[in-house]
Amino acid sequence: MSAHVRAVVLAAGKGTRMNSVRPKVLHELCGRPMLWFVLRALHEAGVDDVTVVTNAEVAPHVESIAKLAGHASSCAVLQEPQLGTGHAVQIALAQMEPREGTLLVLNGDMPLVEVDLVRSAMARAGNALALVTARMPLPSAFGRIVRRGEHVQKIVEARDADEDELLIDEMNAGLYAYDESKLRSAISELRNENSQGEYYLTDTIGNFRGRSETIVPVLARDYRSVLGVNDRVELAAASALLRARICEHYMRTGVTLVDPSSTYLEPGLQIAADVTILPNTAIGRGSSIGAHSEIGPNTRLQNARIGEHVVICDSVVIDSAVGDLARVGPFVHIRGGAELGTGVRIGNFVEVKKSVLAPGVKANHLAYVGDSTVGKRTNIGAGTITANFDGTKKNPTTIGEDVSIGSNSTLIAPVTIGDRALTGAGSVVTRDIAAGERVVGNPARPFVKK
Ligand code: UD1
Ligand code: MG
Repeated sequence: MSAHVRAVVLAAGKGTRMNSVRPKVLHELCGRPMLWFVLRALHEAGVDDVTVVTNAEVAPHVESIAKLAGHASSCAVLQEPQLGTGHAVQIALAQMEPREGTLLVLNGDMPLVEVDLVRSAMARAGNALALVTARMPLPSAFGRIVRRGEHVQKIVEARDADEDELLIDEMNAGLYAYDESKLRSAISELRNENSQGEYYLTDTIGNFRGRSETIVPVLARDYRSVLGVNDRVELAAASALLRARICEHYMRTGVTLVDPSSTYLEPGLQIAADVTILPNTAIGRGSSIGAHSEIGPNTRLQNARIGEHVVICDSVVIDSAVGDLARVGPFVHIRGGAELGTGVRIGNFVEVKKSVLAPGVKANHLAYVGDSTVGKRTNIGAGTITANFDGTKKNPTTIGEDVSIGSNSTLIAPVTIGDRALTGAGSVVTRDIAAGERVVGNPARPFVKK
């Protein structure tokens, strides 16, 4: 059945209450734009035929967000100017080939929506409208569900509601399963006689009542799954709920979170069972972590591939890989496509950029290793700098196996240092050093024992 269900997502609103140059549905929660969560829930419900109503700023982003959410393709239609949610649906329907059957409509600003709720709306479709509602603590800015007896009579927006209506605690969630043909005939009759002068989608309910059509209310189990985001306070509240939900997911798959309330995880990470994450740690952008590794405290991983039995504390790893059994931190920055081999040890104020460190390499104190290749078991002494930038371009440094780079060495790239070579403390290496050669001084010269 779901293969034939189409959906319209409303994402063209200006989001005035955000006070932002960024359109509302592009604001992020847990590393994803708000719109991603809505499209993701639809994809998980098997609804892949989605039309997104957008404004000019959102339009260029729709396709990539839809792809990231799992949709093979997407269709964006422009709504300019934005004259309300009813107008948005009019614009979408005008672009869509008419079909019999169910049409889902969802607000794009409900990132907490879950696949189960989408499914339960679909399961109750078949009449003019299955309308998702939620009981919520007051006060609330949501549209009120006005019932007569059991029947839904109309929806009144909070700003248009009278005192009695404001006391109603059953709200319009912003998720609707319409009969498409009935929606098409109701939508053309909307008027904009309300406090905002907008065409409200919610007025289709009054229209259906007038025609004695059936409206089936579908009460959401938990109002938190339909919370809308209209300003930054609501954005932070929704982020916190999502974050807790994501943390719970990973904990249930076997990850220990010592303090979920200070752990920031994104959807779609690969974290093996028996990983431990310590407080104040943020992990995102498709990172993966192997079994028995311990990450944190105070650590940030972005697009990081972390092996098994790794320990990383108080550090930042971005766009890089860390091999099994490696130890990183405290106070390390690894970035720019760096690759650390098995058992590498990097600690105490070391930066590694776009460098390949073979198994067993150590750089334990105060160093910069950039655009470098370092061979097995080599030790990089405290204060070592690969001087990779000559003022115009970056140059490579190649260091062999079992090399000993003395404290405070400066390696002026491009430069190659052979296996088992040694630089004395304070060396400034300006030329290639042969295998086994021992140098010292500025510029570094062969070391002669007196
Ligand atoms: C809307 C509902 C309200 C419901 C609430 C749930 C209406 C009239 N009201 O109110 O009953 O309780 O959602 O969160 O529908 N949009 C467009 N084009 C427009 C205007 C809005 O695409 O011209 C989009 C927005 O980007 C947003 C969604 O529609 O994603 C809802 O609009 P918003 O202005 O947030 O409506 P609410 O006041 O929250
Ligand atoms: Mg809203």
